Amino acid sequence: MDLGLTGKVVLVTGGSGGIGAELARTFAAEGAKVAVTYRTNREAAEEVARECGPGQGLAVHYDLTDLASVDAAVERVEEHWGPVDVLVANAISPGALRKPGKLFEELPTEDCVSFINVNIAPVLHTVAKVLPGMRAKKWGRIAFISSRAATAGKPGREAYGAVKSALHGFATSLAWDVGRDGVLVNTVLPGLTVTPRVAEAVPEAVLERERAITPSGRLSCPGDVAQLAVFLCSAANGNTNGQFAEVSGGR
Ligand SMILES: NC(=O)c1ccc[n+]([C@@H]2O[C@H](COP(=O)([O-])OP(=O)(O)OC[C@H]3O[C@@H](n4cnc5c(N)ncnc54)[C@H](OP(=O)(O)O)[C@@H]3O)[C@@H](O)[C@H]2O)c1
Repeated sequence: MDLGLTGKVVLVTGGSGGIGAELARTFAAEGAKVAVTYRTNREAAEEVARECGPGQGLAVHYDLTDLASVDAAVERVEEHWGPVDVLVANAISPGALRKPGKLFEELPTEDCVSFINVNIAPVLHTVAKVLPGMRAKKWGRIAFISSRAATAGKPGREAYGAVKSALHGFATSLAWDVGRDGVLVNTVLPGLTVTPRVAEAVPEAVLERERAITPSGRLSCPGDVAQLAVFLCSAANGNTNGQFAEVSGGR
C-alpha cells in the first residue's frame, strides 16, 4: 500500500523518547522528512534524526512549558522544509504522579494544575501554529498519542487521565473544524508499551502480569503504536477523522 508520505514534512513531538523515536523512524521509512523534537535529550533526538536518513531528519528543541519554544520549533521546521503536513503530538511533560498508599486529596492541587496546564494548552497551541499551512495546502494529518488510561483509568494517574481525555474531546471537535479543509485528526491510545524507559523502570514480574491479562498475550512495542499512527497520518487514510483507536492487545 502506498502511504503517500514521500516528501511530506512531519513534526513528531517527543521524538527523543521511546514511542516518538519509533514514530520518526517509521515516517522516514515511508520517505517523509521528519522533525524530531527533544526537551532535554538533544543527543537522542540527533541520533534519531540521523537514523531517519540523509536530509530526512532534523532535531528541534520543543518545550511544552514554554510557548515561545513551541512557536520557535514550528518556525524552525517551516524555515527548513516548508509548512508542516503532519503533526504527531506525542510529547508528555512528566508530573502529578501519586505515590502508592497516598490518597488523591493528598496530592497537592498545584501539582495537578501545573501538569494539566503544561500538557493541554501548549498542545492546542502547537496545533494552532501548524494549521494555517495545512489549510493552505488543503491537506494535513494530526494525531494525538493519548493513553488507554483515558478510557480505562490507571491507579494514581488521575491528572494524566484528565489530560489524555481532554485531548480526545479536543480532537473530536477539531475534526469538525478542519475536515472540510482536507485535514484529518485522530487519537491513538497505547496500552502499556515496552519502550526502553519502561523496560528499565518496570520489573519483569509486573510486565509478565500485564501480559497474562492481555488478550493478545503480549504487550505493545513502540512499533505497534507507530504503525497505526503513521497509517492514520498518511494519504492512505482517506476519511477516518475524529476517531480514537487503542493499541493495547485487546485489553
Ligand atoms: N510507554 C507507555 O507505556 C505509554 C502508554 C500509553 C501512552 N503513552 C504515551 O505515549 C507518549 C510517549 O511516551 P513514551 O513512553 O515514549 O515517553 P518517553 O520515552 O518518556 O518520552 C517522553 C518524550 O517527551 C519529551 N518531553 C518531556 N517533557 C517535555 C516537555 N516539557 N516539553 C516537550 N517535550 C517533553 C521527552 O523529551 P526529552 O527526553 O528530550 O526531555 C521525550 O521525548 C506519551 O504521550 C505517553 O503519555 C506511553
